[in-house]
Amino acid sequence: MMVFEANPKSLYQEYPSTVAVVGAKLGNTVNFMAAAWHTMLSFSPPLFAVLISPKRFTHSLIEQSGEFTASFLPYSHSRIVELLGRHSGKDLNKVEAFNLRLEEGHNVKCPYLKDAIAVYECQVVDAPTYGDHTLFAGKIVGVHYDPEAFDKEGRPVYQALLYLGKDAYTTNDPARVVTYDLKKLK
Ligand SMILES: Cc1cc2nc3c(=O)[nH]c(=O)nc-3n(C[C@H](O)[C@H](O)[C@H](O)COP(=O)(O)O)c2cc1C
Repeated sequence: MMVFEANPKSLYQEYPSTVAVVGAKLGNTVNFMAAAWHTMLSFSPPLFAVLISPKRFTHSLIEQSGEFTASFLPYSHSRIVELLGRHSGKDLNKVEAFNLRLEEGHNVKCPYLKDAIAVYECQVVDAPTYGDHTLFAGKIVGVHYDPEAFDKEGRPVYQALLYLGKDAYTTNDPARVVTYDLKKLK
């Protein structure tokens, strides 16, 4: 039996979702937060978006700098993602407090996380607000990834970090994959 209702608990239907750790830099201030609300927007030009509440410290940094990075960490790093998603840069320097290991961006001033499996460097091209979140649409101006974590088609073959909502995480099983040959599929 399906239940018909709309409340915060019933709005978790898109989970599990990968988490982008969003980095932002303004002057000497560097900050990172967890974002489960993110999506590719376009291949050509390459556009990637994160949805960030104006309440977040990261929001003001991206609004002013016009840049961000998105670092994708593996399942083994769920603890650090939870810490970055439950503490604000308004209250503490997360880079120092959590001993984050950083790499400098190549085409943006903002750094990314060294432990990431994949990273997008983005320059903001649009920032509309929808309800209580701003969609920062970024042109991808740089991509980094660990080639061993992806197959020859570019599919991820590592244990991704998947968010279930309400501080819970899980992962995929790279051994359980179904691949279709469209010519043989009836
Ligand atoms: C797994 C996870 C996913 C999150 N996803 C989002 C998101 O997509 N958008 C958002 O605005 N906040 C999201 N949050 C909340 C922010 O990460 C959190 O408020 C963080 O403390 C903001 O940090 P800041 O104030 O330093 O920017 C998420 C939190 C967690 C734990």
